[in-house]
Amino acid sequence: MGLYSIAVSFAEKMVSPQRFCHSVNVAEAAFSIARKVGVDPDRAYLAGILHDIARDFSSGELILAAREEGIILRKEERACPILLHGKVAARIVQARLGIKDEGVLLAIASHATGRPGWTRLEQVVYVADKVEPGRDYPGVEYLREALDRGDFEGALLESLRATITYVAREEKGLVDPQTVVVFNEISQVKA
Ligand SMILES: [Fe+2]
Ligand SMILES: [Fe+2]
Repeated sequence: MGLYSIAVSFAEKMVSPQRFCHSVNVAEAAFSIARKVGVDPDRAYLAGILHDIARDFSSGELILAAREEGIILRKEERACPILLHGKVAARIVQARLGIKDEGVLLAIASHATGRPGWTRLEQVVYVADKVEPGRDYPGVEYLREALDRGDFEGALLESLRATITYVAREEKGLVDPQTVVVFNEISQVKA
């Protein structure tokens, strides 16, 4: 079995059927966006299919896995361990599937929060996660239209804005400061 089918079976084993469906959608969306913006679509697909493999972990499991992997927890991650699910996923696929592609690992790791100075591949996976066909929230159509127009920067900025707004409105919402830093970087580029 090649790496791609191994990755698909691994993702299927790690998450609920519903989440697996989301992961396939993200992989396919990432593949198609990557082609449009000049990123290797196969690497985008691989990161997409694996990005949420730790998303069904409990808070306790995420903290434990992060400690075992030597990930130093920021205070936001301690308060809201779900923020760790990307970083933990990257370590797991590196160890269990032997994935060494640093760009793919980064795209998996940063998809939950964004990362200052991130690469195009990371951005593609981030946006794909927000626009895959199963997503339905206020503003998602605007994002899809921006992508259809070829306005990737616009789609990225609006993805970040949608995430920050959504999280801020949640009862116990905690906006990751990294996401705010990334939003401001892109917002200033556009301004
Ligand atoms: Fe996720
Ligand atoms: Fe996701």
